[in-house]
Amino acid sequence: MGEGSGFGKVILFGEHFVVHGLPGIVSAIDSATDAEVRKTGESLVIRDERKATKGYAEEKRLQQIESIERMLKTMGLSPKLPLNIWIGGSLPGFSGLGASAASSVAIARAIAEEFSLNLANEKINQIAYEAEKAYAGNPSGIDNTAATYGGLMWFKKNMTGGLDKVERLSVSKPVEIVIGSTGKVANTKAMVAGVAERKKKNPEKYDSIFKLAENLAYDGRKALESYDLRKVGELMNENHSLLQEIEVSSRELDLLVDIARKNGAFGAKLTGGGGGGCMTALAPSKELQEKVASAIEKEGYDVLRTKIGFEKI
Ligand code: PMV
Repeated sequence: MGEGSGFGKVILFGEHFVVHGLPGIVSAIDSATDAEVRKTGESLVIRDERKATKGYAEEKRLQQIESIERMLKTMGLSPKLPLNIWIGGSLPGFSGLGASAASSVAIARAIAEEFSLNLANEKINQIAYEAEKAYAGNPSGIDNTAATYGGLMWFKKNMTGGLDKVERLSVSKPVEIVIGSTGKVANTKAMVAGVAERKKKNPEKYDSIFKLAENLAYDGRKALESYDLRKVGELMNENHSLLQEIEVSSRELDLLVDIARKNGAFGAKLTGGGGGGCMTALAPSKELQEKVASAIEKEGYDVLRTKIGFEKI
């Protein structure tokens, strides 16, 4: 049997914009997806035991099969290889937390172990990027990079196919955040394609929004590195407004963002692909985190209490 694991993540700045070559900031969270792989049986069998939003496993099933076939091909193995795959771990199957990338990294590592392929992290990351295409269509690579390496990072996609720019960032102390789930499964592929389409139709409007998003990522980096958490929160709020303008937020996401802000969060925004999925709120200190988390739970939504800025988990 082969085993593997991949980190969940939260995007603090720049989702969607990173797909088009703008910088983004991502942090792994202390929840991960684990996988076990056995080369037995006659066909592909997947046992997905992740805690997940209702309908998540069913909705993602075809994309999941395609992602595994893509992985096997990239590893030089037959895409129709009969495998018995178990997926579990502490990362819930909520859209927006990079659950697909975390599972791809976990599965790629488990396959590599089962077939005694000694693969470096760079190769695992590349395999997971190919797998992500099944879920995101045209992924930036930010999710699989965070899922592979963990930690807090600055990410900028190389738009000509070369190496992406990835820099490790560090903060003086990890910061409490709250993740709120709308309970709606989101289709990242459709969300990413929708932004590209609208950008093409309204180049002037989108160019000016994109410029603001780029500045936000640089300002966010500066604020994080100087540990000015009030500023980080303000910039997250601004980032949420830009995401609303490119039409990837939703009524539930706006509601949860609003609850978090009203309960003292330093800032809140949707995280990941949007259109459902999750939001995140910056809530430094255990007390504030608890206040924000329980206010969201009181409205009937699932939350995750976690932190950003771990060096290594
Ligand atoms: O919703 P998630 O966790 O798959 O995050 C998607 C992030 C996007 O920026 C929207 C897409 C990408 O590939 O960067």
